[in-house]
Amino acid sequence: MALTIGVDIGGTKVAAGVVDEDGNIVEHLLRPTPAENPEQVAHTIGDVVLELGKGREIEAVGLGAAGFVDETRAIVRFAPNLAWREEPLQKKVSDLVGLPVVVENDANAMAWGEARFGAGRGETHVVCVTVGTGIGGGIVLDGSLYRGRWGMGAELGHMQVVPEGRLCGCGNLGCWEQYASGSALVIDARESAEANPEQAAQLLKIAGGTPDLIEGPEVTEAARQGDPAALAAFASIAQWLGRGLADLAAILDPGCFILGGGVSRAADLWLDQTRESFAAHLTGRGHRPLAEIRLAELGASAGLVGAADLARRR
Ligand code: BGC
Ligand code: NA
Ligand code: ZN
Repeated sequence: MALTIGVDIGGTKVAAGVVDEDGNIVEHLLRPTPAENPEQVAHTIGDVVLELGKGREIEAVGLGAAGFVDETRAIVRFAPNLAWREEPLQKKVSDLVGLPVVVENDANAMAWGEARFGAGRGETHVVCVTVGTGIGGGIVLDGSLYRGRWGMGAELGHMQVVPEGRLCGCGNLGCWEQYASGSALVIDARESAEANPEQAAQLLKIAGGTPDLIEGPEVTEAARQGDPAALAAFASIAQWLGRGLADLAAILDPGCFILGGGVSRAADLWLDQTRESFAAHLTGRGHRPLAEIRLAELGASAGLVGAADLARRR
């Protein structure tokens, strides 16, 4: 059976696995992402691929990278939240491992993994949104992954939802990922802890007293304990997520949406509100089916499974 290796390169972790034709992970590895240094990132990827490939016949390698990947699937041209600029990732990694390598956008890889083997099985039109540090998007139309003319389609996190709004890592103002991502959750929580410390008493206590120390896990814990500021931060990202999905439905009319990424681990705190916001903002509501909003099934492995399968189909 032909095996490929998939590698998902995130801001904090490199997740890699040997994957078979049916999307099963045969072996799995996790490494920290070397901080902000493209050279070391390429070497870490090379190391995990060589380690996983030991004693196995590997056909190809698929990399999921959090950035704008060119249409030849070789170069990460730009990454709003990472240090890659015109990074020839395919060449660097294939020189290190001696195998064919394809580079995919991380969210495209995840969407493909979910559409083939996860929550989108049997669907032909799927829009996948990853809610983490940024917002990633992947679009499967009529059963194929949509990449756009230059490979950079489905950058859903950079729809500009607030005119002159918060500054985004991409350089624009008011992008969706500044209002509906894990980073947005933290910004919202910090802002309200600053403005109204009484309301955020529990949250501040959990974070050790200062708004600056609030991160995602603190907001989640505080929300579970009923902290009003933390709950409001979740309500806000849910609101923005629902609105964005409604806009995407207006354009793409998918059969279902699949939500993944780190923040979906706390989905009980925001998924229902996202569905409500989607239903409340969808154009033509009442006269059309409501696309289902599902959670990713493959969890943290969706990206590597998708990247491995895309490498097989290269
Ligand atoms: C990047 C995307 C990426 C997403 C999730 C966004 O900021 O522009 O390329 O897919 O974050 O990692
Ligand atoms: Na994408
Ligand atoms: Zn942006």
